[in-house]
Amino acid sequence: MAKIKAVITGIGGYVPDYILNNDELSRMVDTSDEWIMSRVGIKERHILKDPHLGTSFLGANAVKNLFEKKGIKPEEIEVILCATSTPDNIFPSTASKIAEAVGIKNAFAFDIQAACSGFLVGLNIATSFIESGRYKKVLVVAAEKMSFMVDYTDRQTCPLFGDGAAAALIEPTTEEGVGVVDCLLHTDGIGYSHLHMKSGGSVSPASHETVDKHQHFIYQEGAAVFKHAVSDMSQVCADILERNHLTGDDIDWLVPHQANLRIIDAVVKRTGIKEDHVMINIDHVGNTSAASVPLCLWEFESKLKKGDKLILTAFGAGFIWGAVYLQWGY
Ligand code: UT7
Repeated sequence: MAKIKAVITGIGGYVPDYILNNDELSRMVDTSDEWIMSRVGIKERHILKDPHLGTSFLGANAVKNLFEKKGIKPEEIEVILCATSTPDNIFPSTASKIAEAVGIKNAFAFDIQAACSGFLVGLNIATSFIESGRYKKVLVVAAEKMSFMVDYTDRQTCPLFGDGAAAALIEPTTEEGVGVVDCLLHTDGIGYSHLHMKSGGSVSPASHETVDKHQHFIYQEGAAVFKHAVSDMSQVCADILERNHLTGDDIDWLVPHQANLRIIDAVVKRTGIKEDHVMINIDHVGNTSAASVPLCLWEFESKLKKGDKLILTAFGAGFIWGAVYLQWGY
């Protein structure tokens, strides 16, 4: 019997309407369009302005977009995973809230905390569920309201992040030449100190003092993260190419996490993948953490052809990073 493989059969996405551009940011902190464009490559990012709407709103809209495009009914979904670092609440899961918002009643739902690598981890888990033969329709949602944990008085971090969500439907296939082929994921806890939120969890609960000290925002030592992101993402891409007997020339699309255009350029050089075979949308969405890779797939969907060979790669807080090699399914 042919082996059951997992394949992405649809992608939905959503970004909120409000656009925060570099000129507006330059009026908020001591920065400039010139600095942000030359050091990071971001021109603008989408922001969910309504303080009463959270990450589940973004995720639910991405799922609705997917359902409309594919003609899927909510009752068909068996599992819904939500990769996020910005959950609506610390508990329960944002996935449960998205399920409720879109009418999913026949599935179990849970969240994944794997920072910017969340979609890759979710896709890996979904792939195992599908390959086991037990599930036929798994939804991987990656959704982030990053603006809620950005300190808009800190010029080192506030230009970097944006809000958005994407949802992928994963189904079984036995067809040759499509589907998820390989996943390679790593964690090194050395990264914890370089990128985290200082308070609000069990080790430093929220207090007046933690609020006064701005400890409920993203803390990042940018240069240290940059160094690891370049070397680890480049290495994991080289490793996944090598163990699948591929070179950069064989790859139709590299889909990198969109944290910094200079990081993407370095990974592209190292892998030998041609520059016009790289999905880039950082200039108009910024770093949307877990949503970054699937938002690229959503935006570039019309350029993809059945059987195209893709490498997805991401790096994030933890550190956790990795790569997925797949062949596009439609
Ligand atoms: O998605 C999760 C993983 N995250 C990442 O992959 C992010 C990795 N890190 C980066 O992308 C970069 O390190 C940053 C974009 C965060 C920062 O760029 P950088 O080139 O590493 O800048 P830096 O932090 O070393 O700062 C260089 C200079 C400093 O000034 P001095 O000390 O040289 O006078 C900063 O104060 O740039 C200054 N600076 C700014 N200037 C204008 C920092 N932020 C800004 C700003 N506008 N927004």
